Amino acid sequence: MKQVLRCVTMVTVSMGLLGIALGGRGQAQDEATPPFALDAAALRPGQYVGAASCASSNCHGSVQPRDVYGVRQDEYFIWLKQDRHTQAYNVLLTELSARIARNLKLAQPAHESKVCLDCHAVYVPRDAQARPLDLAEGVSCEACHGPAGGWLARHTESGWTHEMSVQAGMKDLRDLAVRGQTCLSCHLGDAHKTVNHELIAAGHPDLIFELDNYSAVMPPHWDQFSEKRKAQGREDFQSARVWAVGQVVAFREGMLQLARRARSNDWPEFAEMNCYACHHALREGEWRQIRGYKFKAGLPSWNPARYAVMRVLVSAFAPQQRERLNAQVERLERYIAYMNTPPEQVATTALGLAETMERVIPQIRQADIDTAAAARLIDAIAAEVPYLIDAEIHSVEQAIMAINALASAMARDNPAFARGGITRTIDKLYQDVKDRERFDRAQFARHMAELRRQIQ
Ligand code: HEC
Ligand code: HEC
Ligand code: HEC
Ligand code: HEC
Repeated sequence: MKQVLRCVTMVTVSMGLLGIALGGRGQAQDEATPPFALDAAALRPGQYVGAASCASSNCHGSVQPRDVYGVRQDEYFIWLKQDRHTQAYNVLLTELSARIARNLKLAQPAHESKVCLDCHAVYVPRDAQARPLDLAEGVSCEACHGPAGGWLARHTESGWTHEMSVQAGMKDLRDLAVRGQTCLSCHLGDAHKTVNHELIAAGHPDLIFELDNYSAVMPPHWDQFSEKRKAQGREDFQSARVWAVGQVVAFREGMLQLARRARSNDWPEFAEMNCYACHHALREGEWRQIRGYKFKAGLPSWNPARYAVMRVLVSAFAPQQRERLNAQVERLERYIAYMNTPPEQVATTALGLAETMERVIPQIRQADIDTAAAARLIDAIAAEVPYLIDAEIHSVEQAIMAINALASAMARDNPAFARGGITRTIDKLYQDVKDRERFDRAQFARHMAELRRQIQ
């Protein structure tokens, strides 16, 4: 099984911190020509048109940045040549997908099953398709940007604004909360789709996500740091904010998902719990016995992966919400640890937490996470080692991705920073979690201590 973090490790650290330009762009390639067999005038808002409609070299399919219409215009080319999302449908044809389908006892093969296509393609009803969509395009433009029927024909007219497109059905991905939620609808799940323990046990990778690292790995087909976008006051110009908003939105979405699961017939849902509470070797004197149990010994605990680091952010930028958040989390932990708690109580607590996040999110979006603030956050996260290693590896992974996102932001302001020892230390941290089964808690703690010395 492919390890996501492995890929994040190599690409992000080198891209984010060393600023290595991506290869492959601007080489001689046949420019894509769209089969523009669409009657543009007949398109309706809410209709999907397919990636080929965006692919003309005059539009988004240039091999080089052009910037005639105020965007790069090689978005299609970047997506086609470098983005894993183009493979999202193809992976449903692999042996692994066949095994997953077999284990789930699906009536159809994976590439014909709604449960898979919902996240691995643009899979919408026929009457929402302006022309029959090609599922093999995978996760293409409209999976993120929304159906183009309402704006395709007019969005290049002079005087047409982004807001007008949004009115006509485009997702406002400039808004970081909307962006995070869009990615998470597949990378965590929403009301219509999810990767639960049944899918994981059948063979699906368990989903981890962090907005800034994952955007860097994608790679982005937008110029996040151009002067023009800075002048427009884009929210993501401060890249640490991408991480921060991603954190709080992911926690909210995680709580909404938990509430849905608690109210479903599949509760208790093991994917909400610490994986290694159940999946570990039966040896005496293991670290869990040494650590001790917060609740009754021998019961699986809640998996705090989306909370472990997020709470540092709340302490820094929304301290008034901290007590309420901690108290609610404490309650949720207790309810989940005692598996006979009525599921409705779990659901209500999770919804209460989602509501707390509605208060936190606006404050995080306004937070000014400059270089000094980023350094303080890295230090605060590195100080969480005791909590992190008791929580288990998913929380440790989130901490490392957070440190990478924050350090990348600092390096952007001050390139000399990336040339210090810190890049090597972050590499060591990624190595620490490369193989989840061989995670060495003491070594990780040493590397985090090293990081704290460097950030001082
Ligand atoms: C809630 C959305 C969702 C659903 C439902 C879903 N997947 Fe996935 N799947 C993902 C995401 C997101 C990834 C990428 C995970 C990552 O790399 O972080 C993925 C990865 C995979 C991979 C690994 C691909 C690789 O490159 O190694 C396979 C195989 C796969 N899915 C098959 C399936 C099958 C088969 C089904 C249906 C039974 C399914 N998925 C249902 C979201 C989903
Ligand atoms: C996995 C999600 C995803 C997919 C797939 C995707 N995009 Fe994007 N796209 C984004 C995000 C996120 C942004 C950044 C939004 C912003 O800041 O405006 C973006 C930005 C853009 C922009 C710049 C917008 C601006 O205001 O500067 C264009 C143009 C664009 N995408 C076109 C495309 C096209 C064409 C495709 C298909 C070939 C595509 N995108 C596929 C997520 C996606
Ligand atoms: C419609 C569902 C969907 C949406 C929306 C979506 N993704 Fe994905 N994403 C997937 C699937 C499915 C895969 C697995 C593709 C594969 O393995 O070939 C994936 C893979 C990825 C990968 C590659 C991970 C790896 O293991 O190499 C990155 C990075 C990624 N997505 C980032 C994002 C970001 C950032 C956004 C939002 C801007 C986003 N995705 C939105 C479904 C989605
Ligand atoms: C409450 C206990 C429990 C928790 C928590 C739990 N699992 Fe499982 N898991 C099981 C059981 C029971 C099986 C079936 C094992 C068998 O048949 O051997 C299983 C099977 C699996 C399998 C397939 C069989 C294997 O051992 O490879 C995978 C993979 C898996 N779980 C991953 C996870 C992940 C990832 C998490 C956390 C997100 C998790 N599990 C959380 C109990 C749990």
